[in-house]
Amino acid sequence: MGKNFIGLDTEKTAKLADSLNDLLSNYQIFYMNVRGYHWNIKGDNFFELHVKFEELYDDLLLKIDEIAERVLTLGHRPAHAYSTYIERSEVPERKDVSDGKEAMGNIVESFAKLIGKQRALLSLAGEAEDEGTVALMSDYISQQEKTVWMYRSYLGH
Ligand SMILES: [Fe+2]
Repeated sequence: MGKNFIGLDTEKTAKLADSLNDLLSNYQIFYMNVRGYHWNIKGDNFFELHVKFEELYDDLLLKIDEIAERVLTLGHRPAHAYSTYIERSEVPERKDVSDGKEAMGNIVESFAKLIGKQRALLSLAGEAEDEGTVALMSDYISQQEKTVWMYRSYLGH
């Protein structure tokens, strides 16, 4: 088995990079959905949710860049076309959502998908002894699990 320039197994790293690109695609669609919620939300909670959604998409944007740069660090190319994102994302596009609870419900669902993918990536990265990706996924999972708790509390669950 060949090793790459940072001592990781070449084949396992290629598989990891592909999974990270899959994750990146999901993040990009989710990011655009949340921008839509920020813009289109209406009703009593407008001011609260408008700000909350901005906080969320800012965080997603940071993670999008970290994921893409992790792919580069592993020696691969990050997906960078919307056509690829649409093709690969399991998080569906959400259009014209102006109801706060519907938006929050969609966000909780999307986080469940992302967390599941990140757990799978964490174990794949562990097998490949890729500590950098393990640490990244581990941080995202714990942060987002807490976010899900708070969003679900808002929804009264
Ligand atoms: Fe704005």
